[in-house]
Amino acid sequence: MEAKKPLRIGMIGYGFMGRTHSNAYSQVNHFFDLEYKPVLKAVCARNAEKVQAFADQWGYESIETDWRKVIARDDIDAIDICTPNNLHKEIAIAAAQAGKMILCEKPLAMNTAEGEEMCEAVEKAGVANTVWYNYRRVPAVTMAKQLIERGLLGKIFHYRAQFLQDWTINADVPQGGAATWRLDAEAAGSGVTGDLLAHCIDTAIWLNGKLDSVSAMTETFVKERTHALTGLKQAVSIDDAATVMGRFSNGSLALFESTRYARGHKALYTFEINGENASIAWDLHDLHRLKFYDYRDEGPLRGWKSIHVSDGDHPYMKSWWVPGLQIGYEHTFIHQVADFLKDLETGTPTGPTFRDSLETQKVCDAILASAKDGTWKHI
Ligand SMILES: NC(=O)c1ccc[n+]([C@@H]2O[C@H](COP(=O)([O-])OP(=O)(O)OC[C@H]3O[C@@H](n4cnc5c(N)ncnc54)[C@H](O)[C@@H]3O)[C@@H](O)[C@H]2O)c1
Repeated sequence: MEAKKPLRIGMIGYGFMGRTHSNAYSQVNHFFDLEYKPVLKAVCARNAEKVQAFADQWGYESIETDWRKVIARDDIDAIDICTPNNLHKEIAIAAAQAGKMILCEKPLAMNTAEGEEMCEAVEKAGVANTVWYNYRRVPAVTMAKQLIERGLLGKIFHYRAQFLQDWTINADVPQGGAATWRLDAEAAGSGVTGDLLAHCIDTAIWLNGKLDSVSAMTETFVKERTHALTGLKQAVSIDDAATVMGRFSNGSLALFESTRYARGHKALYTFEINGENASIAWDLHDLHRLKFYDYRDEGPLRGWKSIHVSDGDHPYMKSWWVPGLQIGYEHTFIHQVADFLKDLETGTPTGPTFRDSLETQKVCDAILASAKDGTWKHI
């Protein structure tokens, strides 16, 4: 058998996403037939002891404590950005200038202006790039895309999506620092809009095309929180919740909601699309199921089907177990690595690219701007 071509990974940040990505690199060649094989060359974070422990647990060959050193190394092909959002731009631009491929966590950047610079850098360098909007690669969500592309829904009227959590209701939750950087606008850029709604928007654009305009409300329910690094009570400048109306270029209407104040919900991502002929619905808590209603069914038999997307002819599933058996959240990252490696074989961009994700960033910025002055924003 021919030896695989190595793709030597330098991963920056080893938190939640560092684990999902490391797992994906380790698993992908066991399940997908690919020319390339990721090699866990280096992992980087600022605390040497902690990053060494991570490297030992996950099998990275080396560690660095300065991300610039990872980028400077000539034994690394691809930089994986798993840091908080305020570091994405600087790392990505430096990596592009060094000729490295880049796999960047979402949201692409803190704002559109940063995102533009990142797109220009990767395009100028001509390096492969992708952003980890992983929900595209839940098999049921990929199947939704296929059904829409086959025209089964007909003209689309409505796209509605929600991403609900409840972990910041307590006013004692701090902002800033290692565990709660998402509540600090300096590190996160925005609150639920960039963190949760961005997923809904990426999926929406992928499934239903460009969003033309939005009108939004946001709210910050807890106005002041102690900063984990300074110990001082400071004003909170992220959005805790966002409610958005919008219009797509295809004439359909959008309704999005995202909050960290929906008591009882940990990570409920749902969407429903209503077309002239059919509707589809999906729920992250039941991620294998695609709900499908087809008006063209024989009258008395019309009703919502609940398709268990786990058969060999369903997206990605022939690479896994036997029909009817499940996979989960972590597999969406394995699918993204599999697609990235497959696309390297042919030089095809792996969506969402930086440029694709800039569109999501523009929508997020428009939402925040609309919430600020109460007017509709065109994108
Ligand atoms: N695709 C998804 O569904 C998804 C889910 C969660 C997070 N994310 C995104 O992933 C990114 C990371 O989020 P997370 O939940 O893994 O965060 P995390 O807090 O768990 O991990 C962040 C990591 O970055 C490291 N880091 C911080 N500053 C650094 C520096 N200067 N140099 C090197 N390393 C540094 C930290 O040590 C930590 O290991 C964010 O952009 C976030 O929006 C995406």
